[in-house]
Amino acid sequence: MKDLIFDLIENEKVRQTEGLELIPSENYVSSNVLAAMGSILTNKYSEGYPSFEGIPGWDEDKIATEVLPNYRYYGGQTNVDRIERLAISRACQLFHASHANVQPHSGAQANNAVYFAWAEPGDTILGMSLPAGGHLTHGSPVTESAHIYNFVGYGVTESGDIDYADLEAKALDCDPKIILVGYSAFMKIPDFARVATIREKVTAKFGHEVLLMADMAHVAGLIAGGVHPNPLDYGFDVMTTTTHKTLRGPRGGLILSKGNVASPLKKPAHTLENIPILIDRAVFPGTQGGPLEHIIAAKAVAFYEAMQPAFKAYAEAIIKNASALAAALQAQGFILQGNGTENHLILIDVQKSFGFDGKLYEKALDLVGLTLNANSLPHDKNAAFRPSGVRLGTPAITTRGLGFAEMEKLALWMKQVADLCQAAGSEEHLADYADAFSKIHAEVTALATSFPVPGIN
Ligand SMILES: Cc1ncc(COP(=O)(O)O)c(C=O)c1O
Repeated sequence: MKDLIFDLIENEKVRQTEGLELIPSENYVSSNVLAAMGSILTNKYSEGYPSFEGIPGWDEDKIATEVLPNYRYYGGQTNVDRIERLAISRACQLFHASHANVQPHSGAQANNAVYFAWAEPGDTILGMSLPAGGHLTHGSPVTESAHIYNFVGYGVTESGDIDYADLEAKALDCDPKIILVGYSAFMKIPDFARVATIREKVTAKFGHEVLLMADMAHVAGLIAGGVHPNPLDYGFDVMTTTTHKTLRGPRGGLILSKGNVASPLKKPAHTLENIPILIDRAVFPGTQGGPLEHIIAAKAVAFYEAMQPAFKAYAEAIIKNASALAAALQAQGFILQGNGTENHLILIDVQKSFGFDGKLYEKALDLVGLTLNANSLPHDKNAAFRPSGVRLGTPAITTRGLGFAEMEKLALWMKQVADLCQAAGSEEHLADYADAFSKIHAEVTALATSFPVPGIN
């Protein structure tokens, strides 16, 4: 009997091919990344770490041939050690780090490991508040970490930038152990140097080291492509990221840091200098078990791809497409949070633009094969499950090769769908306009299928 799972995967291939993916945290991986993910490396247990000798610094041939003692708890690690060492080496080069932990299973795991490495239960962590654009893992009360640490949130200004005055005032008041810059819905480029200066003031006032952490899950690919500043170049100690968004790798997490790299077997002094070792201990055995070596191999493949000149061109194109799409939407009457974008993300104030909420718009766009997500806006008066906005972005459609002309088309379709939502007034009445939705859907499918999805024949 054929396993139904494979039918469903085929159906998902059709959905991905015929629709346009506008969710800013999604992308399409290459066939090489897919091949590594689907490889026999999934059969192997490798708790612990390979040697860190010569990383970063050794060339790849040396890393791929050298046999070194490791910090593993199972035998049979020769190939896995070399694969993980290549992943670490590539990540360090790509992000100017002295150490990389490539084992976190996800972005949430990466963040939790950093908190666990540096903070004690009850300590304060200062991050961007969720309504301002921060991520769930930055202190939402529904998360485990919010039960362990005391999260304080800073906000954004009317123009959509980080409210640095608020950040500084709160930092000097709440005595944070970690200052965190990171977000899931923020369209500006953070002033990392300014936050580093605030950290100095906090250290001077409270007399202890404060960890500067950046969660660059959304923009890691832009950083790798050289079109977004790298927080590690501006005094940050740690950068976490997912590997599957703009970075275009497998679903997973990554922690980059600067400082001493040494055996994770011995507990080091609790200093910022030792943060790479503290992080390794916090990932394994602190918060995870065996690493997913097939995913680590796929991360290494994605890092290799991100080091190529073509990736720089891709990162540039993501931003150009996002600016073009933002301008085209504004020309169609859409009101955008922050009046546009400096990265790959766009946040539309649907409520203010058209008088209905983001959830209705998300559902209506689904009917024409345009996928995005409803999202709260800063100071949103609507409830989180029916927020005022929608969030969209250009990483996935840029991978498929869409350009300026297609951004104009997208904005036009999005306006047509907004008009239909206004006419329908509610989800129940969307069906009354089925013909109009199918006409747009056919146009979206025709365009989408002319831009192949990598990894799908
Ligand atoms: C800024 C940020 N951090 C962390 C995460 C969590 O990543 P994951 O879904 O892999 O746990 C996300 C995911 O959207 C994110 O946007």
